[in-house]
Amino acid sequence: MTAPLRHAEPIVVKVALGTRAYDIVIGCGLIGTLGGRIGGLRPGAKCVIVTDETVAEHHLAAVEAALKSARLESSAIVVPQGEGSKSYATFETVCEAIIAAHIERGDLVIALGGGVIGDLAGFAAACARRGLDYVQVPTTLLAQVDSSVGGKTGINSRHGKNLVGAFHQPILVVADTALLDTLPKREFRAGYAEVAKYGLFGDAAFFSWLERNWQDVFAGGPAREHAIAVCCRAKAGIVARDERETGERALLNLGHTFGHALEAACGFSDRLLHGEAVALGMALALEFSAHKGLIQASEAKRAAAHLAGAGLPTHLKEVPGGVPTADVLMDLIAQDKKVKRGTLTFIFVRGIGQAFIENNVSAADVRAFLDRKLAGA
Ligand SMILES: NC(=O)c1ccc[n+]([C@@H]2O[C@H](COP(=O)([O-])OP(=O)(O)OC[C@H]3O[C@@H](n4cnc5c(N)ncnc54)[C@H](O)[C@@H]3O)[C@@H](O)[C@H]2O)c1
Ligand SMILES: [Zn+2]
Repeated sequence: MTAPLRHAEPIVVKVALGTRAYDIVIGCGLIGTLGGRIGGLRPGAKCVIVTDETVAEHHLAAVEAALKSARLESSAIVVPQGEGSKSYATFETVCEAIIAAHIERGDLVIALGGGVIGDLAGFAAACARRGLDYVQVPTTLLAQVDSSVGGKTGINSRHGKNLVGAFHQPILVVADTALLDTLPKREFRAGYAEVAKYGLFGDAAFFSWLERNWQDVFAGGPAREHAIAVCCRAKAGIVARDERETGERALLNLGHTFGHALEAACGFSDRLLHGEAVALGMALALEFSAHKGLIQASEAKRAAAHLAGAGLPTHLKEVPGGVPTADVLMDLIAQDKKVKRGTLTFIFVRGIGQAFIENNVSAADVRAFLDRKLAGA
């Protein structure tokens, strides 16, 4: 008999937030250990798993089995998949179900899914019974490298995305990289934009590593685990230093000013996924940096070439259905609450891996840049 293949030991990244500190555990095939890990933190806790229909189909049974094997009682709340579930209506459904399941202080909410579920379940955990503990089990690449870490939770308002929410840190994040094998390729690729973001804003060596190894990250195995761990380490450090985004945490928004405007222009539909919008937004942000003489044009081109090589959009003309005028894009940027007295905060780079926050960028400059890009420059 051949011995089963053994995965490397899980990687543990600590989020140092004093009494609210927690671990992010990253590894391939970790889901079977979830019950033991939760039981170790909250012995005998009753668990309610919040997930979406698609994730439930693929992974709910394994999570339930893992909890059962550690003799933890669990029930599940399954909501429709998609951004539409970050709504007041679904939030109400989830809170009511948590209360009906008699989840009390000392029990746990488990967010099993992508960023939508993490944000929704985390917010419900922050509010139900004035605050319950929760565990993030992220199942998309975006959620494993970004949304499951850092405690930003919330739902959407009719005025915009994520406008109703709370900071509420999880007590544990378990990122099983094997769960990503069932993720549609397009979703994986979109999440990869956020992986590349970590290189572009703060880690030139990681960006070079990604240029050489991105295909292995897509394929799975140790390269994927390594990449996710690098991102989580970077995010954990930033969150520990600037939990509420009064400074440095804003660097994580590289590419997001243009990205959010483009996403909004597409009605947050699957015409343009968040990560696709971020890839395009980062390509534009680097080009804008080059236009301002902050970096060589060749550096901006190098960044865009990598994103494009991985199959992500980097030109406005690649937005399916076309892009609106600069006026409309500027209105959308303003709605993102980032324009004050004709200036906005923007993340520029001085080089790959050297992003910085600039508070007084003239909206007119941004507009002129967009006009040039829309004219095909
Ligand atoms: N809280 C934060 O810090 C933060 C950061 C970034 C993004 N976000 C939020 O995250 C959300 C986007 O997250 P997302 O991209 O993960 O989207 P998502 O949660 O909608 O997941 C994308 C799609 O993949 C499916 N899916 C998830 N895991 C799967 C799996 N393992 N196998 C097969 N299908 C799977 C889902 O059902 C869904 O259809 C947005 O609402 C955004 O605002 C939050
Ligand atoms: Zn993002």
